[in-house]
Amino acid sequence: MPSPVRLFALAALLVSASALVPPGHQGLPNQPITSDDAPTTDTDSIAQTAGQVNQKSSAPVDAPPNADVPPTNVTAVDGTLTNATVADVASGSSRRRAVSPNVGRFSKRQGGYEQVFAGLAPGVHDASIEGTAYLTYTVVNNATYNVQACLDFCDSVDGCVYVNLFYEFNNFLLDFVFSEKSNLKCAAYGDIHGAAEKTNFGGQPSYPQPVPLTFITQSSGWAAKSLVDPTDPEGYDLVFGPTGGANNAPGYMGFAFIDKYDVDACAQLCNGRGYDPVGGVCQYFNIWRAVVNGVPTTYTCSMYYLIADESTAVNFGQGPLVVTLSRGYARKNLVIDGGFEGFNACDDFCFAASDANWIGTSPTGGDFDATIFFFSTFAKDGNGSALLGAAFGDDTDAGTLTPAKPIATKNGANYVIQSFFISSFSGTALEANAHVDILWNGVVVGSTSGFVGSYTPTQSVNVKGTGSDVLSFHGGAAPAWTFIDDVGVFEL
Ligand SMILES: *[C@@H]1O[C@H](CO)[C@@H](O)[C@H](O)[C@H]1NC(C)=O
Ligand SMILES: *[C@@H]1O[C@H](CO)[C@@H](O)[C@H](O)[C@H]1NC(C)=O
Ligand SMILES: *[C@@H]1O[C@H](CO)[C@@H](O)[C@H](O)[C@H]1NC(C)=O
Ligand SMILES: *[C@@H]1O[C@H](CO)[C@@H](O)[C@H](O)[C@H]1NC(C)=O
Repeated sequence: MPSPVRLFALAALLVSASALVPPGHQGLPNQPITSDDAPTTDTDSIAQTAGQVNQKSSAPVDAPPNADVPPTNVTAVDGTLTNATVADVASGSSRRRAVSPNVGRFSKRQGGYEQVFAGLAPGVHDASIEGTAYLTYTVVNNATYNVQACLDFCDSVDGCVYVNLFYEFNNFLLDFVFSEKSNLKCAAYGDIHGAAEKTNFGGQPSYPQPVPLTFITQSSGWAAKSLVDPTDPEGYDLVFGPTGGANNAPGYMGFAFIDKYDVDACAQLCNGRGYDPVGGVCQYFNIWRAVVNGVPTTYTCSMYYLIADESTAVNFGQGPLVVTLSRGYARKNLVIDGGFEGFNACDDFCFAASDANWIGTSPTGGDFDATIFFFSTFAKDGNGSALLGAAFGDDTDAGTLTPAKPIATKNGANYVIQSFFISSFSGTALEANAHVDILWNGVVVGSTSGFVGSYTPTQSVNVKGTGSDVLSFHGGAAPAWTFIDDVGVFEL
């Protein structure tokens, strides 16, 4: 025999269940559906960190010429300085694409080069560039001051937009060890530097003791005449840019500094950023160059779980920091109308088993067990959402919701599915049994269970695309209803 306490609980459950007006009769949720205020860009932290980071370098005195261009590194994450590879930081990202010529970098070269500054007269001590985005160096034939050979070298280096050409005297390795037997150094950079950045005067020991120290003469700078947009990173579309404004936008997840203007690196950091407990995966990044006191200083990737655009790209800098070359990129969502905003059969309250983009089905004998609603009260944002569990509360069957067309994936590529679920309509007790599975080609790859008090992002395990894949949601058992909104499938 049940104890009095248990009887009381059962009675309370029955009363509350019978008093419930189900969603299909425009009942109201047990508690209002609210969205948290999304955090905006922390521009102070970015500016402060830009004041600390040092990404300047020149061609080393002791390394052989023609070294490979090192991969893009991360120099700060969320205000903490670091020196790590992008792959280390973006550990959630499953792949690093092979570098192909000019993909993702600062820009492509077009129309030759122009002199940024000339070297000092022969014999006068000069200085080489110490600047950001150093790539590699070579030595060119020093029978003449061989500008053309240096520009040709830049053409051959992925991401090179600028070279610094100079003689380095008293370098033992150049004079006696390296096979080229030339002291005319050509240093390649992925960004353009001015004469103010000629700060490496040599003075380093290279010859055996007692030493004449190294010194530099005739240091000139040459830049690509025009720069064009980098190729969009895989899985992203350009939203705006280049402009002089960085985003100050909601849904901010944090930032990283990288050592080159490399949109592929930012995309990889966004993919590997992890999940915000309120907003879910990174869906947008803003890359820009910080110029401090006129000198390129670092390259920022700011990451967001909400897609921003040029209307919020209004941070032009602060103090000595100026924002340049700002571009926004949005992560492609392969789900058509993942927010159910395409359903607008009315302008207040209505629902249907399916529309042009989504199909809801009920098992035999079931009635509206998977539905699409137009009703802003149920939606995470906008007017549309979907419901699993009988809309009229007249059966306890689980429904199935699926996009009208299969997802157009790339065969063999990796994806993650994200959906926002809320299971709170009928209160904690009745929603305790709520359950919805996420299925990919019929296999369960994620789920939500039990009472969920606010729209919460839920991610699947990583899934593989086959080129045409069936996504579906299965579950709900009225009065343990679950609403769904903002469904996404994103490439990793
Ligand atoms: C990063 O670390 C490497 C190896 O430890 C070092 O050679 C390089 O100078 C460091 N870079 C920065 C920017 O600190
Ligand atoms: C990039 O970071 C790695 C790991 O810390 C380090 O070994 C490497 O030298 C760094 N590269 C540069 C160019 O600083
Ligand atoms: C050319 O480079 C070699 C090797 O560093 C050096 O010995 C020679 O003096 C240089 N010639 C000129 C004209 O600077
Ligand atoms: C929601 O519906 C109302 C009324 O039809 C409409 O004015 C509004 O623009 C809709 N909101 C969105 C985000 O579509």
